[in-house]
Amino acid sequence: MDLLPERVDLVTALARARSPERPGPDTSAGPVVRAWPGPPHALPQAAPGQLDLGRLLRLSLAASDGSGRLRPAPSAGGLHPVDAVLVVGTGCPLPPGRYGYDPLGHRVHRLGPEADGTLPGATVELSVTPRRTVSHYGHRAWPLMLLDTGHVAAALWLAARALDMAEPVLRLDGLSDGPLAALHFTLPQKAGRVSQPEGPSRPMDRPAPGELLARRSAATPLTGTPSRDVLRAVLATAVQASAGDLAWCAAVGEPRPELVESAPDGTLRRLAAGEARPTLAVWAAGQAWIADAGAVLLAYGCPADADAALIRRTHLRAGFAVHLAHLAAVRHGLAARPVGSWQQADLGAALGAPPDRDWIVHGLALGTTHPDEEKTS
Ligand SMILES: Cc1cc2nc3c(=O)[nH]c(=O)nc-3n(C[C@H](O)[C@H](O)[C@H](O)COP(=O)(O)O)c2cc1C
Repeated sequence: MDLLPERVDLVTALARARSPERPGPDTSAGPVVRAWPGPPHALPQAAPGQLDLGRLLRLSLAASDGSGRLRPAPSAGGLHPVDAVLVVGTGCPLPPGRYGYDPLGHRVHRLGPEADGTLPGATVELSVTPRRTVSHYGHRAWPLMLLDTGHVAAALWLAARALDMAEPVLRLDGLSDGPLAALHFTLPQKAGRVSQPEGPSRPMDRPAPGELLARRSAATPLTGTPSRDVLRAVLATAVQASAGDLAWCAAVGEPRPELVESAPDGTLRRLAAGEARPTLAVWAAGQAWIADAGAVLLAYGCPADADAALIRRTHLRAGFAVHLAHLAAVRHGLAARPVGSWQQADLGAALGAPPDRDWIVHGLALGTTHPDEEKTS
């Protein structure tokens, strides 16, 4: 398998990842962080009017809680293949240039000067070290790495919101043959603007820094059917965040097992009657606990004839949207866990539509129980 991102044949890689073929034994994942050249530099504190790169990265990419977890964002198998390069322009606490980011040390390594035309503020370019995810998932790695990248993009996007920064310019178009995704952060509008407190005056849709750092994938089993109101809110978040690139539905369990989706008026409507979760468990690499999940949010689309750009775009978007849906779910009191490895998951065909159009791309298992808390109480 060719591991170089620019040489990989994504169309073939996705078809193989969706097949029943099982990965071989694990191989070495290599170093946990890319070996950036040159000495590490601390990220200086931002002066008033500068882009606060240090806090932005602390809330999104830095290994933070001493538990051994490598990043605050989730990652298939906890392997964290996503690397970040900072393209720094004027108005930042670092001199303009390109920097590799080390999430373990929360340090940067200067890679070289910035290109002509670099914008003020900073762009975070995301790419992957395939060896990390391939070490466990083998030929199933590529869709997972794209989903992981989408989650990291969302973590950066949410960090900007938490810090009351302007909304970043998000590039998840899948067209790039360089970085898989990029976010550009502009300079603060008003010099010296102070972030709002985390207290009651904080708008509901703005996450608190602590919420982002506390995010975890809930331990399984994840049982208890969410209320329809909460499901509707979580589905609406996913639909909005996926910018029309994917369709969404949720498989819900007892007392009335069915597949539901968002209607145009924002209410929930039935997509199909009956129990889907045991089939989902088989499709998701045989993870039996999924059959008992309270609900499973599903992103689908990305047909079998999708070209490489569409494969990149749909998977990046699915990771981005599931990440936002995860935060929404937690805010509504649910426990949630992403589910990214899907084989033979042609949802459209299973529902009687033409085959090869609507494949499951990503999922988020939901429950009302919190096994982590129960264990400790
Ligand atoms: C793209 C993606 C796919 C994932 N797929 C699964 C999965 O199929 N089953 C599962 O139990 N967890 C899955 N996870 C959750 C990871 O195992 C989890 O993020 C990782 O162990 C790190 O833990 P944390 O999220 O609590 O930081 C997935 C996460 C991501 C980002």
